[in-house]
Amino acid sequence: GVQGMNGTEINTEIRIEPQAEAHRHPPIHEISEEPHSVTITSSGILHQQANQRGKSGLRRVLTYGTFDLLHYGHIRLLQQAAALGDYLVVALSTDEFNAQKGKKSFYSYSVRKEMLEAIRYVDLVIPENSWEQKATDVETFQIDTVCMGSDWENDPRFEALRDICQVQYLNRTPGISTSDIKTSLKG
Ligand code: CTP
Repeated sequence: GVQGMNGTEINTEIRIEPQAEAHRHPPIHEISEEPHSVTITSSGILHQQANQRGKSGLRRVLTYGTFDLLHYGHIRLLQQAAALGDYLVVALSTDEFNAQKGKKSFYSYSVRKEMLEAIRYVDLVIPENSWEQKATDVETFQIDTVCMGSDWENDPRFEALRDICQVQYLNRTPGISTSDIKTSLKG
């Protein structure tokens, strides 16, 4: 601090918490109708009693992807996904999972996660480690709707989730993809 004219301390530290400011929603526990039924831990894990689904009034949406070389097609997908509910979870493919699929991203998982977390439509980023985790994710995060771009339309891995939640495919933005960017940069 700095001494002011009358000898009092002037606080010269400016604290800006952009993440809190920019967020679409207040913290999840503040908007719950039953404030103690939903909590979110520091690690971002959402805890809710199993029988409380829907009672908080929050519609939770989940989508999957790698989101490498972030582009406006990704932003529009996330915007559409967020519009399906009140709370958007993105399951982000880890570098290890991408290696299993024979893919290698330009940016590491931690950088891709950091960028997604800076997007106003995204409330929570979790790791996607395997093809098999989807049903577990839906239960853990009490998801109402899983959505993907239309390139995944009718994929059995998403269709299988119809027993436990809604599944929706969203319009892809034409003319842009991470692969297109990589190809066009190579000249
Ligand atoms: N997506 C979209 N419109 C685009 C590109 C991607 O809606 N033009 C959506 C995909 O359908 C998916 C999500 O964004 O639901 C994440 O896609 P991802 O595969 O990470 O990005 P792509 O740009 O499609 O990457 P790649 O070219 O490597 O497949």
